[in-house]
Amino acid sequence: MYSVRGVLSVRGVLNESFPRRRESSRGSQTRDSRLRRRGNELRGHVPYFLKRVLTLSLLTATLALGWAQAEGVAITVYKDPDCGCCTLWERHLEANGFRVDSRETRAMGLVKAQVGLPRDMASCHTAIVDGVIVEGHVPAEVVHRFLAERPAGAVGIAAPGMPLGSPGMEMPDGRTQPYDVMAFDASGRSWVYSSHNDDQ
Ligand code: CU
Ligand code: CU
Repeated sequence: MYSVRGVLSVRGVLNESFPRRRESSRGSQTRDSRLRRRGNELRGHVPYFLKRVLTLSLLTATLALGWAQAEGVAITVYKDPDCGCCTLWERHLEANGFRVDSRETRAMGLVKAQVGLPRDMASCHTAIVDGVIVEGHVPAEVVHRFLAERPAGAVGIAAPGMPLGSPGMEMPDGRTQPYDVMAFDASGRSWVYSSHNDDQ
C-alpha cells in the first residue's frame, strides 16, 4: 500500500527537481545580460538541486526500509536437507513475520560448533537472526520478543531437543509436551526464557 504512495511521492519530487524551463522573452535583452541572468539562475539552483537530491535519497532509504519490513525480519536457517520438521518450522516463521534464507547442510554438528552453541541447547536446525542464535523449534513470537528485549548477556535462545507440539513439531494426534525456551550466554550458562504447553 505505501509502496504505491511512495512511488507517487518520488514522482512528485522528480517533477519538482526538474521543472519545466521557464519561457523567457529574449527580444530586448543583450547577449551579456542573458548570460548574467543564466549564471544567477544556476547559482540559485545548485543548493535547491542538492536539497532535492538529499530529499530523494532520504525518501529512497525510507522506502527501502519499508519494503524490508513488509517482507519480514531476515533470518538464516541452517538445516539438514532431509529434516522435515525443520522445513515446517521455516514455514511457521514465514507465516509470522520472518523472511527465511534457508541453507541446507549435512554438517549440522559443525554449524553448531562454529556458532558456539552450548551442547545442552542442541536441537535439529540452527538459525541466525540479527546476530543472535535461534536453536530448534522456538515459536516465532518468542523470537520477535527476544529481538525486542535483548536480555543482557544473552547471545541466543533455544528449544533443546524436539518438544512435541512446538512449531514444526505438531503431532497428527495433537499430542503436546511442556517445554521451555532457554536463553543462553556466551559462556554456555542458560536460563528459562519462556514456558510452553505447560497447561496440559
Ligand atoms: Cu526439528
Ligand atoms: Cu529443525
